[in-house]
Amino acid sequence: MKLSVYPVYSLLTPQSLEGAAALVIDTLRMTSVAAVALGNGCAGLRVVCEVEQARALARETGALLGGERQALRIAGFDFSNSPLEYTAEKLRGRRLVMTTSNGTRAIQAALGALEVYLGCLMNASAAARALEGRDALAIVLAGTGGRFSLEDAVTAGAVIARLGPGCELDDMALAALCLYERARGDMHAFLSPTAHYRKLARLGFSGDLRLCLTEDAAPCLPRLCGDGWFRAAGAAAQAPEKQNPAD
Ligand code: MLT
Repeated sequence: MKLSVYPVYSLLTPQSLEGAAALVIDTLRMTSVAAVALGNGCAGLRVVCEVEQARALARETGALLGGERQALRIAGFDFSNSPLEYTAEKLRGRRLVMTTSNGTRAIQAALGALEVYLGCLMNASAAARALEGRDALAIVLAGTGGRFSLEDAVTAGAVIARLGPGCELDDMALAALCLYERARGDMHAFLSPTAHYRKLARLGFSGDLRLCLTEDAAPCLPRLCGDGWFRAAGAAAQAPEKQNPAD
């Protein structure tokens, strides 16, 4: 497998995704939320860039609304971007529309790939299992505000380590692997000086940090289906839930 890592999604070109599967990573916290929500029985997840687009789509489909601006809940939304809120009780059988500052934009940028998956530390092993054997894989990192984020690169390294030998790694993939090897003994010690970690800690989201930085804690892998909704890989053929007959 030819494996390339894009340190920020804005570096993608249409050629980057040709013939490749894409794994989009926003460890803190959008793709972690996706893994938790779908793992807890959410019937489908759509991501959009703008708040008004999200509201309109949720109205049209009967979906719940989640996401953030400046890491905080958006007015009128059902959930913030804290994975701890996305419980089975609230989500089972319901669809979800999300908009976030970086993660949802990175996902939109990767939509030209042959297949699109959402990765995080919590589903690193599930991602590696699902993706092994592809001819080409583009790992797309969300970053923060258009800039590189260390936690996303560490997560890319965690997936690459699990894919094992036999992959043809580009230089960024090699760097991600080194960063993961360095971080894995104590993720929090390694990542606590980083910008987004510090911001979330300052805002009181230490529970989110603990969860999002735990490898294989939520082994569900979100996969984009032909109708534009992400579902848990392996559950792609599942029928839409009853609440949204119009969609
Ligand atoms: C994003 O998409 O920018 C993030 O997931 C931000 C956050 O931590 O809430």
